[in-house]
Amino acid sequence: MAKRTIMAAGNWKMNKTPTEAVEFINGLKDIVTGCNSEVVTAVPFVCIPGAVEAAKGSNIKIAAQNVHWEASGAYTGEVSCEMLKDLGVDYVIIGHSERREYFGETNEMINKKARAILDAGMIPIICCGETLTQREQGVTAEHVRYQIKVALLGLSAQEVSELVIAYEPIWAIGTGKTATDEQAEEVCAIIRQLIAELYDNDVAEKTRILYGGSVNAGNAKALFSMPNIDGGLVGGASLKIDAFEKIVKHDQ
Ligand code: PGA
Repeated sequence: MAKRTIMAAGNWKMNKTPTEAVEFINGLKDIVTGCNSEVVTAVPFVCIPGAVEAAKGSNIKIAAQNVHWEASGAYTGEVSCEMLKDLGVDYVIIGHSERREYFGETNEMINKKARAILDAGMIPIICCGETLTQREQGVTAEHVRYQIKVALLGLSAQEVSELVIAYEPIWAIGTGKTATDEQAEEVCAIIRQLIAELYDNDVAEKTRILYGGSVNAGNAKALFSMPNIDGGLVGGASLKIDAFEKIVKHDQ
C-alpha cells in the first residue's frame, strides 16, 4: 500500500486581508517548492481570487473554510460550490467546531456540504472532535464516530478514499494545549477503524486523517510521525510564514 502523503493545511480563520494573503502566498511559495508534504492554505472567501493567482505554478493548494450545499438561490450571504470551483479552489473545510458552535452547523448539514463539494469536483476536509466535558465523560470515541458516520452518509468508497478528515479536539484549538501524540493517534485510529467498518480496509488505508489543535513548529514532527496521523490542520501557527514553513518541512 502506497504511503499517504502528509498534508500541512493552514486554516487562517477570519485573518488577513486580500492584500496580505497575496503577500503571504508569494512569500511562502518558493520556500515550500519541492517539499514532501502537500501544502494547503484555507483563506477567507474574499482572499481566494488573489491567493489562487499567487499560488499558480507552485505546490500550494487553496482551500475555502465553508460553503453552502445548495447550487444557487435565495441564501443571502452564502457561497456555492460552483463559485468556489470556478475560482480554482481545491479543498473546502467543513464542520469546523467554530462553525458548529457559532453558526449552528449540524452533522446533517456537513453531510450535505460534503456531497455538494464532491459533486463539484473539490475535496472536503471534514472536521470532528470532542469538547473537554465529553473527553472527561469518556465519550470521545462515540462522539467522533457519530460525527463522522453522519458526515459520510451516502458517500461512495471512492469518494471517502479521496477526502480528508481532521480530528480536532475542541479543548486543544487555539488554547496552546495540544493533545499528546498518543491521544491524537488514538482518536485518528478510531476514525480509520470506523471507515474500515463502513467501507473496507483499502478505503481506510487511503483516507487522510489530520490532527488539529495547537499544532506548532515544535510538535508537528512527532504528531505527524504517528501511524494514523497524516498531517495537520493548523490555525494560529499557519499565520506566520516561518512557523508554517517549519510545519510543512517537519521532516527535514
Ligand atoms: P489552532 O487551530 O492551531 O490555532 O489551535 C486549529 C484549527 O482550529 O483548525
